[in-house]
Amino acid sequence: MTATLANGILETATTPFPDQRPGTSGLRRKTRAFMQPRYLENFVQAVFDVAAADAPLARETLVLGGDGRYFNVPAIQTIIRMAIANGFGRILVARDGLLSTPAMSAVIRTRMALGGLMLSASHNPGGIDADFGVKFNVRNGGPAPEEVTERIYRRTLEIDRFRSVRLADLDLGRESDHQVGATRVSVFDPLADYVALLERLFDFGALRALFRGGFRMCFDAMHAVTGPCAVHILEERLGAAAGTVVRAQPLPDFGGGHPDPNLVHAHALVERMNAADAPDFGAACDGDGDRNLILGRGCFVSPGDSLALIVEHARRIPAYRDGLAGVARSMPTSTALDRVAASLGIACYETPTGWKYFGDLLDAGLCSICGEESFGTGSDHLREKDGLWAVLCWLSIIAATGMTPARALDAHWRAFGRSYYQRHDFEDLDAAAAAEAVDALRQRLPALAAARFAGEAVVLADDFAYRSPVTGATSEHGGIRIVLADGSRMVFRLSGTGTAGATLRVYLERYRRDGAAGDPEPHLAPLLEAAHALLQLRERFGRERATVIT
Ligand code: G1P
Ligand code: ZN
Repeated sequence: MTATLANGILETATTPFPDQRPGTSGLRRKTRAFMQPRYLENFVQAVFDVAAADAPLARETLVLGGDGRYFNVPAIQTIIRMAIANGFGRILVARDGLLSTPAMSAVIRTRMALGGLMLSASHNPGGIDADFGVKFNVRNGGPAPEEVTERIYRRTLEIDRFRSVRLADLDLGRESDHQVGATRVSVFDPLADYVALLERLFDFGALRALFRGGFRMCFDAMHAVTGPCAVHILEERLGAAAGTVVRAQPLPDFGGGHPDPNLVHAHALVERMNAADAPDFGAACDGDGDRNLILGRGCFVSPGDSLALIVEHARRIPAYRDGLAGVARSMPTSTALDRVAASLGIACYETPTGWKYFGDLLDAGLCSICGEESFGTGSDHLREKDGLWAVLCWLSIIAATGMTPARALDAHWRAFGRSYYQRHDFEDLDAAAAAEAVDALRQRLPALAAARFAGEAVVLADDFAYRSPVTGATSEHGGIRIVLADGSRMVFRLSGTGTAGATLRVYLERYRRDGAAGDPEPHLAPLLEAAHALLQLRERFGRERATVIT
């Protein structure tokens, strides 16, 4: 039932949906779930209610955009009407509704907005039968911290009405300004804020010289949101050859692909980089532009190594010339970073999975560069991970050192040793059974602390708990972690970004001081076997092999 209030605002009665607790990165559900009446509205109203409890919205700006997946534009139109009814002073809507996650973070910061709503399910497929998501970012440009997402969730459980106005769909195809009651709605081009920021961090002149010298790269935009921006930066600004960016056009279904830049889903790029006439450098970004994949000729740079190498060479990049305050990685991420941090004499923080836990470290100036094993890397220039930033870091390192990615990796491993690393994902598991498997492991922790694996004694077996050194906020159940005497690790946790069933992630790391190039498999085999046995994967799920190995 909808009532029209005196000021023309429409108030519609609603009842709660019990499943609107945000996960690792916002609320992700099947697109059809979001398309059912009141589902999107309930969640967005809960976000606005929580925001309004902290600050009157009349003087505040809301940034709005998405990764272009199916349902992006209709959802944006709905949210515009709701944001007006909820009294925002200003709404900034990305042109065509297209905004990458890092650009969202940049715009919130440069325009001093209250925050933003980002419509994306990141690297998950798009389409009416695929995935959709909504993420709320706060004033620092980063994802809402757990304390805020929990308040939003509690609000969704008691919501009984949402607000909207009668307003025709806005034309998002061109920049424009509209005054609707007390709200100014602007359709804007987010590219300028974001590119200007990157230009301040990197030496575009040096990168132009690299391409002028004949350097060739291939960037796979995976038909996702970074395409137009990558064409602008790489081809138009830095002079990379036309056609350097492939699959550049954003599509609602990402061309039927899975916009996840890893060895499995970016296989076309991987094949190209393994071919005889491969370019010098390959890279890809995900659906919303925050993840990155880095490849050399016939060479894959794992995310943990990429993070460690960027930190190792950071002083070659103008923004980090004076050194780094500290670095951070999520707990399951390879410890390669820790060794570089130790050599630089800077702190290395270990946080739970998800970018939201880096926010306060970055805000407090404790951390300059951070990253995750899930192909995410970023720095204090934003409060999100940033795919194109990582690509520009690598181009800068290559330009400054003259090393190929393969040579840079070799030099790194010679200096620090190598963490052989893999993540094994078991997807589409029965949710209750998967939770039970992790619980069973949790129960066995005391016994596991005295066990041995792969010939090494266990030195730590726990369920990762975190306390922010900045705010004191705590987070529990970050994953079961088994650390061995030689620094090797097995980590087990359930994904918090899925939309159906459960995904169990098994992270394996084996450190070798004499590690060198070559496949990680043989080095990880004893850990993999132990992990399968610990989880009873065959007995519980009939699984012999992971769905995806990265
Ligand atoms: C996954 C990754 C995590 C990342 C998140 C959002 O979350 O593991 O590192 O921050 O996606 O991109 P998960 O599904 O494991 O909860
Ligand atoms: Zn993403």
